[in-house]
Amino acid sequence: MGFQEIFGALPEASAKAPGRVNLLGEHTDYQEGYVLPAPLPYFTRVEAGRAEGRVEAYSENVRELRARPLESPPQGDFLDYLLGVVWALREAGHPVPGARFHVKGEVPMGAGLSSSAALEVAALKALRLLYRLPLSDREVAVLAQRAESAYVGVRCGLMDQMVASLGELGKAFFLDTRTLTHENLPLPPKTRVAVLDLGLGRRLAEAGYNQRRQEAEEAARRLGVRALRDVADPSLVEGLPAPLNKRARHVVSENLRVLRGVEALRRGDARTFGELMVQSHRSLSQDCEVSLPELDRLVEEALKAGALGAKLTGAGFGGAVVALLEEGRYEAFRKALLSRFPGLRIL
Ligand code: GLA
Repeated sequence: MGFQEIFGALPEASAKAPGRVNLLGEHTDYQEGYVLPAPLPYFTRVEAGRAEGRVEAYSENVRELRARPLESPPQGDFLDYLLGVVWALREAGHPVPGARFHVKGEVPMGAGLSSSAALEVAALKALRLLYRLPLSDREVAVLAQRAESAYVGVRCGLMDQMVASLGELGKAFFLDTRTLTHENLPLPPKTRVAVLDLGLGRRLAEAGYNQRRQEAEEAARRLGVRALRDVADPSLVEGLPAPLNKRARHVVSENLRVLRGVEALRRGDARTFGELMVQSHRSLSQDCEVSLPELDRLVEEALKAGALGAKLTGAGFGGAVVALLEEGRYEAFRKALLSRFPGLRIL
């Protein structure tokens, strides 16, 4: 059902935002590090209209209409994200009296592809048009992250919302999460990115994610730096007790991999970039300890099937794998993987 059928009026504004994969720079954004995600050609589309004192939304995905007054606490449904962005706008002093939304999401959910950031950013961009709010795309991203962390209650970093708001399709989005400077960089020529989703869902992801954050904070505190981003000498982390040494080693080495990955992209060097992805996965598996045996196996098989590089994408504890391959090898790669993993979805 469309906006008009639900609300009896035409929408007054609309906007969309994409999901993302992360090519390099995992579990670094909450330590002011570097990240290198890329938007996916799957969007969440939001249509919006005015409302007073409440937020209402219909989701095509769950086929449900939900409504709650402004200032209601989160309840664990999709409306939380929309109440959250309205809350974040009002908290930042923008005169938003309420809104009604129609939401249609193409970004697969529960695969670690940031469907929630896509929803928040699309809703904020629709509200920006609807109420003529003087907001840059970067401010949209910051408000989206505030909605998710302070209202919805998921302590995420800034990567997902920034790439959903400012990324360019077909390019990698290099972001410094301390300064928020960013650059869209072309992917290596004649390569293609594939997302491999076994439909694992995410197991205990939130608890595990928050624990990694705390461990990283504790490591930074013991090393006497504002954030692990500031550790210039990687050997310093070895003096920390386990598992803080491993966690810090991951973050410090991952930041270096992003910087090397950016250099490789500037040279169009797909092979080096792929190797960095493989190293990133190994570090995520062994030092950050956020992988699962299924993901490790999928990465191995993707490499055997000809990928230049492969790694888990997003927070881990499930979710998808991202692979980089030579364009001409895609069909053979697809066939080989589907024969080994019959339930695999390749995006
Ligand atoms: C999730 C968070 C991001 C980032 C990744 C891990 O996607 O939302 O902010 O921390 O995990 O790289």
